[in-house]
Amino acid sequence: MKASVFVGTSLDGFMARVDGSLDFLPPGGGEPHGYEEFMATVDALVIGRNTYEVVLAFDEWPYAQKPVFVLSTRQLAKAPTGAIVEQMEGSPAHVVSQLEKRGIQHIYVDGGITIQAFLRAGLVQHLTITRVPVLIGTGIPLFGATERDILLKHIATRAYASGLAQSEYEVGVS
Ligand SMILES: NC(=O)c1ccc[n+]([C@@H]2O[C@H](COP(=O)([O-])OP(=O)(O)OC[C@H]3O[C@@H](n4cnc5c(N)ncnc54)[C@H](OP(=O)(O)O)[C@@H]3O)[C@@H](O)[C@H]2O)c1
Repeated sequence: MKASVFVGTSLDGFMARVDGSLDFLPPGGGEPHGYEEFMATVDALVIGRNTYEVVLAFDEWPYAQKPVFVLSTRQLAKAPTGAIVEQMEGSPAHVVSQLEKRGIQHIYVDGGITIQAFLRAGLVQHLTITRVPVLIGTGIPLFGATERDILLKHIATRAYASGLAQSEYEVGVS
């Protein structure tokens, strides 16, 4: 199974403010930058509970009919009508093996703690990071401590008219 990350960050590497807000990201992504095309390739999402709670507060559920597996050790807040949401817990390897058994071939991993755990476990194959031209100084970091270097292969970097700079990497390929 393939796992991909597709995130927007401040130039200084934060995916959210300390309080979880995303107000430094341009509304609606600013301009088309491949999100819809990426979403069309994934079978399911695996997100952390903190991300789930932020997304629940959006005016509209953003994942349509894609199955969303929310990692949490606690009872989840109720999902909106029509959303396909299931709770899961355990190590990234356990989660991947459970999803593989269901025939899922490509997951979108999201949420800071969740992305970092999957990266540490060597279970992310593809990263797309869209940097927004702003420094916010502090917040929830996309990346964290690792026990060893994680080698990446640069695939492409694209500049967008609004100032977005998007880089794509394969993970674990020297
Ligand atoms: N900029 C972007 O593109 C972007 C994208 C996504 C999210 N975000 C932002 O990032 C922030 C959330 O990131 P975050 O770093 O706080 O964390 P997160 O990964 O969304 O959620 C972390 C929580 O998920 C649960 N969890 C994670 N792995 C687990 C596992 N293997 N088994 C069981 N439970 C597990 C734990 O919650 P329990 O306590 O319930 O066990 C953990 O505290 C939000 O503010 C969101 O808005 C930004």
